[in-house]
Amino acid sequence: MNLYKVKDYQALSKKAASVLAAQVILKPDAVLGLATGSTPAETYAYLRKWHEDGILDFSEIKTVNLDEYKGIAKDNSQSYYTFMKEHLFDHINIKAQNTFIPDGEDTDSNSVCEKYEAQIMQLGGVDLQLLGIGRNGHIGFNEPSDCFMEHCHCVSLAESTIEANKRFFDRAEDVPKQAYTMGIGTIMKAKKILLLASGKEKAKALCQALRGPVTPGLPASILRLHKDVTVIADEDAWSGMEL
Ligand code: F6R
Repeated sequence: MNLYKVKDYQALSKKAASVLAAQVILKPDAVLGLATGSTPAETYAYLRKWHEDGILDFSEIKTVNLDEYKGIAKDNSQSYYTFMKEHLFDHINIKAQNTFIPDGEDTDSNSVCEKYEAQIMQLGGVDLQLLGIGRNGHIGFNEPSDCFMEHCHCVSLAESTIEANKRFFDRAEDVPKQAYTMGIGTIMKAKKILLLASGKEKAKALCQALRGPVTPGLPASILRLHKDVTVIADEDAWSGMEL
């Protein structure tokens, strides 16, 4: 594992964007695995800027997102589809047909997940997977449980995840209770993984992921078994490592 501690969220975002930019430059037709949420928002701002400056060309890049809420319309302001359009896709020269997100509008879980898993394989797998980490150690929406789920699946969100994500919705009751997510096996098949952690509320999960036992009770801990993982954490997220 390559571990980088940086000062703050801005430094984390710039470094993360640089890793993604290097991938785009070195392999212009790469498959990028993307995440949503607060953590990568500023990383995407750098990518938008570097595209605008003529540094990054996304015309042959393909993207697969980690997850999407189940039963949410694409045009819902809180769908991950909308998030990706607003934060990245609408501002760069990526082809819409090269961007993939589980279909949250389709409530046939088996069909959505099988199709998504097959789609990722058809693209040749993920070259670089970007990940955030949940306060409970989840990656994608693989919540703590007693087994690692291999493939894309439908998951019931943990209470703590619903609690954490309600900040994006008008009312807590509006947060969807289920989501489609890449499985741990899907994530672990990525050639390279980039995990970001920012803020004190991630300190405990990050420390457990990097130092505790490898267990489905703390899903991010599995990353220690991957051969090419880079972790970028800001000082707040890193603070649990110094106790
Ligand atoms: C998002 C995702 C989640 C988030 C995690 C952290 O696509 O898969 O695992 O990365 O919940 O969310 P933020 O960055 O909002 O703290």
